[in-house]
Amino acid sequence: MAGALGADIDGVDLASLDEAGFAELSRAFFEHLVLHIHDQRLTPEQHVALTKRFGPTSRSPYIKHMEEHSDIIAVLKEADEAKISTFGNAWHSDFSFLEEPPMGSLLYAREVPSHGGDTLFANMYLAYEALSEGMKRMLDPLKAIHTGKPYGVNGVGPDLKVSRSIGIERNRPEADREILHPIVRVHPVTGRRALFVNSIYTARIEGMTEAESRPILRFLFAHAVQPEFTCRLRWRSGDLAIWDNRCAMHYAVNDYDGQRRLMHRTTVAGERPMGVADERAAGAA
Ligand SMILES: [Fe+2]
Repeated sequence: MAGALGADIDGVDLASLDEAGFAELSRAFFEHLVLHIHDQRLTPEQHVALTKRFGPTSRSPYIKHMEEHSDIIAVLKEADEAKISTFGNAWHSDFSFLEEPPMGSLLYAREVPSHGGDTLFANMYLAYEALSEGMKRMLDPLKAIHTGKPYGVNGVGPDLKVSRSIGIERNRPEADREILHPIVRVHPVTGRRALFVNSIYTARIEGMTEAESRPILRFLFAHAVQPEFTCRLRWRSGDLAIWDNRCAMHYAVNDYDGQRRLMHRTTVAGERPMGVADERAAGAA
């Protein structure tokens, strides 16, 4: 899709993919971070079954799931909902405030606007690799505090207008707390290092004051999303995208007021992020 990341895939029927086909898809997933698979006809059951081939599903705190399909979140904005905040409308890694953030998500386009509503992705391996040796040395051992309360660092105030289809549940103990994650994350499959901070959930750097931490995080947030590290996914209905939440961030562009957009999202469970020090300890053991 772009120099940085993303692969377009045609001619695959995800509902009937055999073992060899799935193995190839997995390899492409780890190499390209984001797969954009065109022209699917998936029932919700098939969408969930495909998700489970990548790993166990996980339910996300805060967000209401579909009544009839408990593993699916319907991400919907109606045509009459204008000037509202939508889901994922800032650069982030999904639910990074959890002890075990999701490994990835599968987003299936059921109904998309004639234009707009794209999703942007950023390659966090490249973001890390592009840093100076001095910055890498400083960041490698550090941890950052992530928080979901009260839904991200900037918060969802009582008067913020969000889509009526997105039920945000408040006072969820697994989200309303702070959690420490390494700033430099070692990917458990590829072994590559990725920057793991994001503007929605990363509050500050452990062991630093707020004032010291803020400019460093601001620099990293801006550094990570320069155009050279990103790609842009333009949806058609029937498209399915899967991304690796451990080494890619994403951003849902909210530029389609007046048009309806309906996506179904499933989530694959992840593991506790491993840092550079954990990797060394594992290597020494
Ligand atoms: Fe997201």
